[in-house]
Amino acid sequence: MLEQGLKQLENELSISLNMTLTIASRFQEHMEQSLSGRVSSLKMFPSYLQAPNGYEAGTFLALDFGGSNARAAVVELRGAGNFLELHKLSRPLSDPESGRDYRAASVTAEELFDFLAGIIQEVLSNSSAHPTLKSSTSGPLPLGFAFSFPYRQQTIGEGFLLYWNKEVETSGVVGKDVGHLLSAALERRGLGSVVSLTAIINDTVTTFLTAAYQDPSLDIASIIGTGHNTCYLEQKAPGFEAPVIINTESGNFSDAPDTPYDQRLDLESDNPGEQRFEKKLSGKYLGELFRRIVLDFSQRGLFSGLNNPPAPARWNQPYSISGKDLALILLEEDSHSRLVPRDECFALKRIAHLLTKRSAQLVAASFIGVVRHLDPHLDHRHTVAIDGSLYKGMPGYAQELTVALSEALESKAGLVTVKMSAGGSLTGAAIAAALAKLDK
Ligand code: BGC
Repeated sequence: MLEQGLKQLENELSISLNMTLTIASRFQEHMEQSLSGRVSSLKMFPSYLQAPNGYEAGTFLALDFGGSNARAAVVELRGAGNFLELHKLSRPLSDPESGRDYRAASVTAEELFDFLAGIIQEVLSNSSAHPTLKSSTSGPLPLGFAFSFPYRQQTIGEGFLLYWNKEVETSGVVGKDVGHLLSAALERRGLGSVVSLTAIINDTVTTFLTAAYQDPSLDIASIIGTGHNTCYLEQKAPGFEAPVIINTESGNFSDAPDTPYDQRLDLESDNPGEQRFEKKLSGKYLGELFRRIVLDFSQRGLFSGLNNPPAPARWNQPYSISGKDLALILLEEDSHSRLVPRDECFALKRIAHLLTKRSAQLVAASFIGVVRHLDPHLDHRHTVAIDGSLYKGMPGYAQELTVALSEALESKAGLVTVKMSAGGSLTGAAIAAALAKLDK
């Protein structure tokens, strides 16, 4: 019975080579529809930034707010692809001890942005003795703000939040310019003349900038972590004379196959109908899909071991299983076979593996869509930089992604290189501030 259930699940979750190619061409269509002003699930936001040349230099402030932590640093760009992140601070958005959670709907925009401005203030006070800052304090320090949510901008220094995702719900931010909210909070802390917010950028764009600062051949960057998204260097963006980095907001792509589990998760989420690609594949949702599948198996009588699960989770509670739990299950050496029957322990692993494999295949398909848009006959080399906890931390994920790309690209697979780009958000935000300054 269990084996039959697993086979059926495998059929539902598996993505054939044909399906990969179909998803890739649908992704390309959605990109092109959006670029030409037609309705599409891809937003294709211009970042108002070109690729760096690696020689941008100076001292900048950087702030990164992406969902679970806020981080800030002083970044020294030294040119020739070299940089230093100094006085780095990271603060969780939620503090279990005090019960404070800046992502909650009960928290106001002012409270969240005062908290973010406070982190910048702390970095500045830690760094005031630093010689690099002393020598460059002729004017306010330019700040690059990496903000990893869907926002619309018409200039590099603004960002109107369209909607929250990744289960952040802070009140009073949707529809507002987060640049204005942050600048007002900096003013309230007396930092108005010390710091000048110069650039707001998405985390895919910061990943792009950091990797491209060292490797000018880079043309695509992606985050595969709590959330998912991809950006690329568009040669012919409407309204732009020079190439510009475009944030596709690929997490909202709507044309990949759904299982009943995906449909239910979407319907019962905070933002039904939105981010449907992300909900099939990113770290925020893989654990939840896993929980729903295992619970369903158990309700159908296929699985009995839920009373002693190998993951520390309450199976009836939504989002109680994280991507990290799945990684642990995949690494499990049958040590829980005492608690869970051996075949069920094996089944948990197989379900976790099917979900992570599908995730990597979907991402690969979207990359092929981007590459085909840039280079329809695949005549040139392309490099994709990837950051994010799922890509870096899920056992076998990077390999599944490479396999999916090679199978689909066949003899041209050697032309697409995928490389890990770790921890580039703060440096990328600083490079964005440098590029925005050059533009003025
Ligand atoms: C957001 C993107 C972001 C991605 C990765 C998604 O949920 O919509 O803007 O780039 O997560 O953090």
